[in-house]
Amino acid sequence: MCLYSLLAGAAAGHHRFPDGFKFGVATAAYQIEGSWNVSDKSPSMWDDWTQQNPHLIPDGSTAEVACDSYNRWEEDIRMLKDLGVDYYRFSISWPRLLPTGLPNQISQDGVRYYNTLINALLQNGIQPYVTIYHWDMPRRIYNMGGWQNPLMITWFGDLARVMFSLFGDRVKTWLTINEPLLVCDVSSQGWGPGKKDTEIGLHLCTRHVLLAHARAYEIYGEFREQQKGRLSIANQFMWYEPEGPGDEEITELVLQYMNGRHAHPIFSKEGGWPPAVERHVAKSSRDAGYGLSRLPPFSEEEIEYIRGSFDFLAFNHYTSQTVRAARPGEPVGGDAFFDVPELRARTQGRPGWPAAENGWLYVYPEGLRKILGWLKQNYGDIDIIITENGYSTSVRSLQDDDRLHYYREYLKQLLLAIEEDGVNVVAYTAWSLMDNFEWTDGYTSKFGIYDVDFSDPERRRRPKKSALFYREVIRTRSLDVPDPHIKDEL
Ligand code: GAL
Repeated sequence: MCLYSLLAGAAAGHHRFPDGFKFGVATAAYQIEGSWNVSDKSPSMWDDWTQQNPHLIPDGSTAEVACDSYNRWEEDIRMLKDLGVDYYRFSISWPRLLPTGLPNQISQDGVRYYNTLINALLQNGIQPYVTIYHWDMPRRIYNMGGWQNPLMITWFGDLARVMFSLFGDRVKTWLTINEPLLVCDVSSQGWGPGKKDTEIGLHLCTRHVLLAHARAYEIYGEFREQQKGRLSIANQFMWYEPEGPGDEEITELVLQYMNGRHAHPIFSKEGGWPPAVERHVAKSSRDAGYGLSRLPPFSEEEIEYIRGSFDFLAFNHYTSQTVRAARPGEPVGGDAFFDVPELRARTQGRPGWPAAENGWLYVYPEGLRKILGWLKQNYGDIDIIITENGYSTSVRSLQDDDRLHYYREYLKQLLLAIEEDGVNVVAYTAWSLMDNFEWTDGYTSKFGIYDVDFSDPERRRRPKKSALFYREVIRTRSLDVPDPHIKDEL
């Protein structure tokens, strides 16, 4: 064997994923299913909000049909099979399963739909990874205050119990709540059907989300021995770095506020809010004349209840931001919903980081490696599943070189984190299987590795170049694959 092929072999080895590493793709019920009012399904808060606010969605669209996956799930399975994924992360629609929001009425049609989907996945050798709550809250629960109501802890626990009882014999990986950061912070800044209250409501929401997650973990304890599955929460973690010299301290506080607030209570050894964040909000609350900190302290029992409520650590990651303190009088927040008003911190993409067309996604692959290192440093050696990662485009095309490049570079950094930094990442999920209803962006922001023709009643799906690339990565378990050629155009 010549030196060249030895070196090539070593390089190829460098881009191989460890044995046992799993690959998947993700979607969420509201973004793909459609059939918003079939059988006994009740409206979700997103159904109401999109129908009442078309002017707030760039294309004025709704998810009434979306990808029509309620009817076309067999096509989804064919795509998954073709990609060769190990698992499919999808969510179960709360108002489809429990039309009253509560367990007094379980929809037989909802049960039938998810049973059919889960069974078909398993028949094709694909593991279901199920998200219990991916934002489509029943109208009734929303009208009762949603996550600001402490009864959510009970209601969410009841929902989780129904799901474990019905599907837990076949579902072995559960994610309780998708992205507390979006559910509470971003929503409370007025995004989508959020309840606008960044001072009090936001922190109540976060508190209840964490307690509800822990409640679901506790209930899973009743099923664990028999079902032998695992459960965690799917956080949104961005990477933050100082904009310039002198911004280090505020950056670490932002990391603790934006990421640690949703992770420290669960994954740290001590539990509870990150101490620096707790101190900061307590002081600013006192200064503003509040009696109790706006970030209500957890009791000792609550700290213990939430601490350790995980079997692995899961997070979604798309982008990174730089951080600096706002200048005196400078506005924080508003349209720039990634700013951190609580800390008077301005965040933005660094000039030079390529930006996707959706206005917030900056491409900084090293950020993935850095956030993985930060998690290991803060919470130790926990198995990590990346539950979403992906890139958005606004124009339909099967030649999605930018997306392919994004995946290649982020996966490279992921491998470096595993091999060089010893981070225990065990699975990676691409968002998304196909273009879908991207919340307040409607269909204008496309994250799919499959194109969906939303003007076609059949909702024809076609693989983009990135799908062919991902399929090769999965098949070879390595990044040493060339860019595929794709002849087709739309
Ligand atoms: C995540 C969310 C997904 C998807 C994605 C792309 O925050 O969980 O549902 O919308 O962002 O923006």
